Amino acid sequence: MKFFIDTANLDQIKEAQDMGILDGVTTNPSLMAKEGISGTEKVKQHYIDICNIVDGDVSAEVISTDFDGMIREGEALAALHEQIVVKIPMIKDGIKAIKYFSSKGIRTNCTLIFSAGQALLAAKAGASYISPFLGRLDDVSTDGINLIDEIRMIFDNYFFETEILAASIRHPMHIIDCAKIGADVMTGPLNAITALLKHPLTDIGLAKFLEDHAKNN
Ligand code: E4P
Repeated sequence: MKFFIDTANLDQIKEAQDMGILDGVTTNPSLMAKEGISGTEKVKQHYIDICNIVDGDVSAEVISTDFDGMIREGEALAALHEQIVVKIPMIKDGIKAIKYFSSKGIRTNCTLIFSAGQALLAAKAGASYISPFLGRLDDVSTDGINLIDEIRMIFDNYFFETEILAASIRHPMHIIDCAKIGADVMTGPLNAITALLKHPLTDIGLAKFLEDHAKNN
């Protein structure tokens, strides 16, 4: 399973990259705003800065909601760097834009997926990734993991090459559950990723090993 980090924070991206386990980055307009990045040129430069930190794919989201606007924006984003994947919202014009980009060899990530039907449409249009939002489904008492399971079955039935990018990850169990189901990618915050490191028995065991070593040296 590929690990993407879901942030526009350069320090956190560097920290995950330094661990050697990072395969890419996802961002969205809210995450950009959280870092105080605004204005077209600054946003573009920030995407380039992210691409220069990581080796893998970097999702850059369009703001337009009409076909022409999405094409204009997406082409400009894709031209920034070869690692850029154009993030397109799950709306009718978005599906048309994904189809267009697919025919031009520009990779896309269809975002704001909340149902298996939406995932199927985006895959048929040729999306490189689809992003089902687990955490936000859980927030409204709907099983987000179940959605990943349904999409996995549908994509396997028809050999879709579209990758399932499990998004809106909130905690380490989301990551484990996605790995069990066979999500291709997960994107989450740094604290959900580093939480995978932790186990109290590891800490107790290491402390004991070091204590015993110190006694004999
Ligand atoms: C996906 O690419 C989105 O950026 C993200 O995962 C949304 O997560 P949130 O529900 O924690 O905002």
